[in-house]
Amino acid sequence: MSRELTLFEAVLALFLTLFYNSHGYFLPTGSVGIGFNGYFTLTNTTQHTHGQAFDNEPVSFTNSSTNLTTSFSINFIFAIVPEHNHQGSHGMAFVISPTRGLPGASSDQYLGIFNETTNGKSSNNVIAIELDIHKDQEFGDIDDNHVGININGMSSVISASAGYYDDEDGRFKNLSLISRNVMRLSIVYSQPDKQLNVTLFPAEISVPPRKPLLSLNQDLSPYLLEEMYLGFTASTGSVGAIHYMMGWFIDGESSYPRLEFGKQPNLPPYPKKASHKTRTILAICLTVSMLAAFVASWFGFVFYLRHKKVKEVLEEWEIQYGPHRFSYKELYNATKGFKEKQLLGKGGFGQVYKGNLPGSDAEIAVKRTSHDSRQGMREFLAEISTIGRLRHPNLVRLLGYCRHKEHLYLVYDYMPNGSLDKYLYRNSENQERLAWETRFNIIKNIASALLYLHQEWVQVIIHRDIKPANVLIDHEMNARLGDFGLAKMYDQGFDPQTSKVAGTFGYIAPELLRTGRATTSTDVYAFGLVMLEVVCGRRLIERRAVEKEEVLVDWILELWEKGEDILDAAEDNIREEQNRGQVELVLKLGVLCSHQGVSIRPAMSTVMQFLNGVSELPDNLLDVMRDEKLRGLPETSVEMLLGLNSSTITHSLVSNGR
Ligand SMILES: *[C@@H]1O[C@H](CO)[C@@H](O)[C@H](O)[C@H]1NC(C)=O
Ligand SMILES: *[C@@H]1O[C@H](CO)[C@@H](O)[C@H](O)[C@H]1NC(C)=O
Ligand SMILES: *[C@@H]1O[C@H](CO)[C@@H](O)[C@H](O)[C@H]1NC(C)=O
Ligand SMILES: *[C@@H]1O[C@H](CO)[C@@H](O)[C@H](O)[C@H]1NC(C)=O
Ligand SMILES: *[C@@H]1O[C@H](CO)[C@@H](O)[C@H](O)[C@H]1NC(C)=O
Ligand SMILES: *[C@@H]1O[C@H](CO)[C@@H](O)[C@H](O)[C@H]1NC(C)=O
Repeated sequence: MSRELTLFEAVLALFLTLFYNSHGYFLPTGSVGIGFNGYFTLTNTTQHTHGQAFDNEPVSFTNSSTNLTTSFSINFIFAIVPEHNHQGSHGMAFVISPTRGLPGASSDQYLGIFNETTNGKSSNNVIAIELDIHKDQEFGDIDDNHVGININGMSSVISASAGYYDDEDGRFKNLSLISRNVMRLSIVYSQPDKQLNVTLFPAEISVPPRKPLLSLNQDLSPYLLEEMYLGFTASTGSVGAIHYMMGWFIDGESSYPRLEFGKQPNLPPYPKKASHKTRTILAICLTVSMLAAFVASWFGFVFYLRHKKVKEVLEEWEIQYGPHRFSYKELYNATKGFKEKQLLGKGGFGQVYKGNLPGSDAEIAVKRTSHDSRQGMREFLAEISTIGRLRHPNLVRLLGYCRHKEHLYLVYDYMPNGSLDKYLYRNSENQERLAWETRFNIIKNIASALLYLHQEWVQVIIHRDIKPANVLIDHEMNARLGDFGLAKMYDQGFDPQTSKVAGTFGYIAPELLRTGRATTSTDVYAFGLVMLEVVCGRRLIERRAVEKEEVLVDWILELWEKGEDILDAAEDNIREEQNRGQVELVLKLGVLCSHQGVSIRPAMSTVMQFLNGVSELPDNLLDVMRDEKLRGLPETSVEMLLGLNSSTITHSLVSNGR
């Protein structure tokens, strides 16, 4: 199975970054998991199960100035991998619901939307587009491969067999929903026309066919309450299917980018279960081998005492999706038995050891962390399988992992020059000081890694723990961001009342402390502080002779506001820098990014534009930052001040959500 990004995925990622409504955070319930290449799977191999993934933020379908329902257009990309090639399970649906999640929903024919009692109730206020792969007589289904529009119940108002009308010859082409092919569903509603069009087509077609599959003439405004949640659901019955939800986007008008998707990714087949016969044989083999094992264990016990036994439980999903899984023995040998001599460092999440993979001269860094809950571990590993696929020159590559007893081992590329903090907080006077070019390059490297995580990958990935100790320096003095997602592990089951917030003190954005919710903005906050540290070569808070210099960001802001030389805060060898403009830019940008107000912080794409000199910082930035009134107004962002096209900036779309 190829782990490389296919053209399809690259285009999908681009497509989604252009048009993503960008919340990117889902509330998953039930059987939702992460599957092939990090895509959401709404169901797993469990029978009679259902899953729901709901967007965390409500969407308003009402024009706030006129109070009238607005038109909308929603697209999503999906695929269904059935257990049996010619028999569907139950199917999936896109739902618009007044609640975030549909509690009490049933599996099987209810598709994870309704249950026996809620089905058909007019109080539901739920609109669903179903992709039904099972013919249920009960609900008057036309066949086992259809698309339907459902309002408040499982009986479709209107439905049609899956397929599309080819633009070229106008002929109807059948599609099989369970073909494992990636398809796109386009849902367009026009309030003036009171018409809902639904079009299904293969994802490699870049523009939706002109003639829709379903066209419903009905005023939907009675169902579209002020705030609605968008979600995806799926269910299985006695036959299984993996329902992939690969991406979705809201588009205000019905204009589409013309992009060729190219070759579809090859989705892995439905995981094989041992058949009845093989299970019987297996059982017999097991009994025999257990007897043998019983005898052998006497010998084994002696062996066990000599060599630490390696107990690893390999789960099906790990084989399927995981990045390389190392054996404990490999890592044990590579690090010479986790000897003290091999220890590179210790951090909040565990120890890091240097190692050499036997049989090659590849140098690796092995991070050992402990974990206690099995459930948290499973989710975390699912996340790792996503992280393992990220490829960017400024990210430390995750080579693989290993689970052994209560420890989790993560294997990374070894970075000979260690982490950035060593260069910044110099311990001895004669340690070399970084030249400005190197510092600026390091800042740009971190920015480009963050941009990739936030806006260029299919899913929004939040780093959660940006600080100099998590930035590693490679042999060419380029910076690479490491440890992404690790903080998440400590973030599971967050309870604002009792729980601690993951992250590192000093780099935690104020709203993260309040809400406990990490966002791309909280990453930008920490990155702003790191920029300041890189220029000034000191810690955020330090004992100083002069009191006003103790808190770095406050000091810089004060210099700036008083019109004094902002470069006074920079490290000695930078103060005389030729390229004053660049130093100043980074200092001001650092202050902007680490601003208390969420809405003022720029998105990483904007930060990159500043760093690359494509855009200039607005002149009135100080006024804007000072203006307390701006805080409550999420519409004001640096992007708007600059008049930047917001369609490329996922950030501002969050607040303008339609
Ligand atoms: C599928 O999801 C359900 C619900 O979360 C869970 O109980 C079950 O263990 C999962 N099954 C597999 C095979 O992962
Ligand atoms: C809301 O309605 C006003 C007045 O009809 C119109 O000018 C504006 O463009 C609408 N806004 C949206 C987001 O549709
Ligand atoms: C819009 O509707 C809400 C709730 O129905 C109402 O409180 C508000 O006054 C209305 N606004 C306008 C401009 O009609
Ligand atoms: C159906 O869902 C409703 C609403 O969540 C719940 O109150 C009810 O108990 C559920 N009924 C069944 C039969 O599951
Ligand atoms: C398309 O599907 C319909 C209904 O299942 C069937 O009658 C028709 O023969 C199919 N056409 C083609 C070209 O496969
Ligand atoms: C629905 O499709 C028909 C036929 O192509 C088209 O005339 C109409 O404008 C579409 N309506 C919407 C809301 O897109």
